Amino acid sequence: MPDDEHRIDERLIRKINAYLEKNRDPSTPVTNLLDPEELRSRLDLTLPEGGCSLDDLYRVIDEYLEHAVRTGHPQYFNQLWSGFTLPGFLGEVITGLTNTSMYTYEVAPVATLMEMELVQRMGRLAGFEDPEGLFLTGGSNGNLQAMMIARNRALPEVKHAGFTRDARLAAFVSEEAHYSFEKAANILGLGMERVIKVGTDEAGRMLPEDLEQKIEDSRAAGLRPFFVGATAGTTVKGAFDPCERIVPLARRHGLWFHVDGSLGGTALLSPRHRHLLDGLEQADSFVWNAHKLMGLPLICSVFLVREKGRLLASNSVDGADYIFHDDGHGASDLGPLSLQCGRRPDALKLWLSWKYYGDTGYAERVDRFFDLAAYAEEIVRDTEELELMAPRSSVTVCFRYRTPGIEDLNAFNLRLRRELARSGRSLVNYGFLGEDMAIRLVIANHELTREDVELFFRNVLSAAESLLNPS
Ligand SMILES: Cc1ncc(COP(=O)(O)O)c(C=O)c1O
Repeated sequence: MPDDEHRIDERLIRKINAYLEKNRDPSTPVTNLLDPEELRSRLDLTLPEGGCSLDDLYRVIDEYLEHAVRTGHPQYFNQLWSGFTLPGFLGEVITGLTNTSMYTYEVAPVATLMEMELVQRMGRLAGFEDPEGLFLTGGSNGNLQAMMIARNRALPEVKHAGFTRDARLAAFVSEEAHYSFEKAANILGLGMERVIKVGTDEAGRMLPEDLEQKIEDSRAAGLRPFFVGATAGTTVKGAFDPCERIVPLARRHGLWFHVDGSLGGTALLSPRHRHLLDGLEQADSFVWNAHKLMGLPLICSVFLVREKGRLLASNSVDGADYIFHDDGHGASDLGPLSLQCGRRPDALKLWLSWKYYGDTGYAERVDRFFDLAAYAEEIVRDTEELELMAPRSSVTVCFRYRTPGIEDLNAFNLRLRRELARSGRSLVNYGFLGEDMAIRLVIANHELTREDVELFFRNVLSAAESLLNPS
């Protein structure tokens, strides 16, 4: 029988369900991490000249799944996203099935309307009355996009003429901000050194007094401050910069005020936690990753601007009439707003998911994340061998293992984290807080329970024990 390329084989459905079922079994390893050479030797990565059969392809899919990290497993804490949701998965399946691009209404009519609806909805949650916005490829690009609009506002001639001189622009973000701000400064021709790092308090929140000082210092040094990026949910400590206190400084100094809510934007959905973003309503732009705490498959990220027209003015170009036609639907084309040409309909999966869980489902989820993170913090505080490395602000808990006999705590905790990964029992990441390594537990999987958190710490303690007393 010839291969049928236009029918989804039941085998695939069975494989997907078996994979999902195993995710929920705590005895399933989160990862079977192998060195690249070892993994390469186990896979057939050659691309045959004559192709292969669908049966062969299904065998390769089995291998892929066998070695894939189980990011939907309840012991996967490695990134700021985790877990599996059916509505999100359905959105991905329908996206693949219908395979379109978001540049014109004509080729993505429903997805365009869904995207418009979500931009309005999410923008209003941010406190923007009549927002402009669109989905883009993540928080990094949201930060880039914000800095680009700010640059074009500060130097209107640059969009067309480029830099004709060193404008000596200076941007300000906290020392805990994401590295993408530096990448943005690189791409935009500002220079990474022009991203000036503002000090933070112990919890990792930007210090407004230091921001003011750094703005004044940079002026005195002949620089031209143009942008401040606050973070709502920093990458390691999960801290929320005090937007309300940054707004007046941004206004007084004429800076574009952007908020990176890649991680913490989702707190807007919880009446209990949305106060963490107070002041956001006065920001100029905002990026919010739904693929983090809203649990959508990567990528799903929305960028919002308070003043309509700024995004379009920054991104529009001439010479695109081969694709954008003024013939009835042109006003609904989202392409001119975007830095991309082809763009996936990421709004679809978010819209489906929001429809399914509702506002209350998401509010409960956010509250559960915070409660579970508080529980994890409590376990750390109550366990003699564990040390909390920073005050907890939201869904990340930074800690390390420590007992009197250990001389080099960084080296030991690195080994501990590696041992956990090697055993496949839990996968968790780490960062450095100053000189000290901290294991960063992230609560981001909507199915997590207190038992999963307890198991994680039992795994940590038993991995430490096996390193201290190898049998
Ligand atoms: C605070 C913050 N901003 C931006 C990003 C980058 O987001 P993305 O991976 O979607 O580009 C991250 C990623 O973890 C982040 O934590």
